[in-house]
Amino acid sequence: RPTFVKSLAMVPIRTADPIGAIGNYWAKRHQATPAELSLLQALAHSTSVALESVSLYAELERRVAERTDELHASNAELIEANNALSELHRQKEALAALLVHDLRSPAATIVMRAQMRLDDPTLSDKDRRHWTHELAAGETITRMATNLLDVAQSDAGGLVVKAAPLELGGLVRGVVEIMSALAEVRSQAIEVDLPEEAIELTADRELLRRVLQNLIDNGLRYSPSGSDVRIDIAADEASVDLVVRDQGPGIPPELRELVFERYVRLSGAGADEMGRGLGLAFCRLAVEAHGGKIWAEGNEPKGLCFRVRLPRAPISAPPSS
Ligand SMILES: Nc1ncnc2c1ncn2[C@@H]1O[C@H](COP(=O)(O)OP(=O)(O)OP(=O)(O)O)[C@@H](O)[C@H]1O
Ligand SMILES: [Mg+2]
Repeated sequence: RPTFVKSLAMVPIRTADPIGAIGNYWAKRHQATPAELSLLQALAHSTSVALESVSLYAELERRVAERTDELHASNAELIEANNALSELHRQKEALAALLVHDLRSPAATIVMRAQMRLDDPTLSDKDRRHWTHELAAGETITRMATNLLDVAQSDAGGLVVKAAPLELGGLVRGVVEIMSALAEVRSQAIEVDLPEEAIELTADRELLRRVLQNLIDNGLRYSPSGSDVRIDIAADEASVDLVVRDQGPGIPPELRELVFERYVRLSGAGADEMGRGLGLAFCRLAVEAHGGKIWAEGNEPKGLCFRVRLPRAPISAPPSS
C-alpha cells in the first residue's frame, strides 16, 4: 500500500520481555536525533512503569479478595465457636442456679432446727455453742446461695423490687437478732443505735434484710474477734441513711469502689475467710433497684463504714405483681 511514512523510529516497551512498542514516524526522510530517541525511550519507560503498576495493582486486588474470603470463612468459624461457648456458659449457669436453688432448702432446714434448739431455755452452754455454730453456718450458706441467685437474676432482666411500707427499726432489730449467732461464734457484738421514732419507708423488706445481713456479715468477718459492729440510722423527709460501721482494717480509699464489683476479694486481713465476692455486688444491685446509693467510707478512728442511702419511696415504680 502506498504510504506517506518515509522514516520510522520504534522503541520497545519493556526491554526484557517486551509487550509492545512506541514510535514516531516522519513523512520525509529523517534520521532520528539522539534527543528524539531519548524522548521516545522516556515515553516507553513511563508506559512500562504504568503497565507494571496496573498489573501489580490487579495482583494486589486479587490477593486482598483472597484474604477477605479467608477472613470471612474464619469469622464464620469464630461465630460458630462463640455460639457454642455461649450455649455451654448458659447451660453451666442454669445448672449452677439449679444447684444453688436446691441448696437453699436444706440450709433453711438447718437454720430452723438450730433456731428451735436455741429457743430451749434448758440448753446446756456446750449445746448452745454447738447450735449457734450450726445456725451461723446455715445462715452463711443461705446468704451466699441467695446472693448468687439474685446476681444471676439481675443479669436476666433486673431484680424485682416488691416494695411495701415497712418500719426500718424493726427490720434492723430482726436482722441483728439472726446475725448475733455469727457475732457470738466470733466473740463479737452488734450494737444498734436507732432513733426513738419509727422510720417508715416503702421498700422491699426481703432485699433490705439481705443487704443489711451482707453488710453486718462483712463487718464481723473482716474485723478482729472481740470488736463491735455498729448500726445506726439517720433520716430526713426524703431519704434514710442506714450505716454499718466496723473496727477492722478498713479498705484503702482507691479500692472502696472496686469491692462492689462481682467476685472481687481483697488480699490482707480476713482474706482467708470464706466468701465469693458477691455480697457487695448484690447490695449495690438491690439498693440501686430502689433508686438508692451505697458506698464505703472510712470509720473514725478505725475501720470501715458502709452507708446505704434510700429514698423514702423507691424512685422506679415497683412492678404490680
Ligand atoms: N467491712 C469490711 N472491711 C474490710 N474489707 C471488707 C469489708 N467488707 C468487704 N471487704 C472486702 O471487700 C471484698 C468483697 O466483699 P463482698 O461482701 O462483696 O464479698 P465477700 O465477703 O468476699 O464474699 P461473700 O460473697 O460471701 O459476701 C471482701 O472480700 C473484702 O476483701
Ligand atoms: Mg461479704
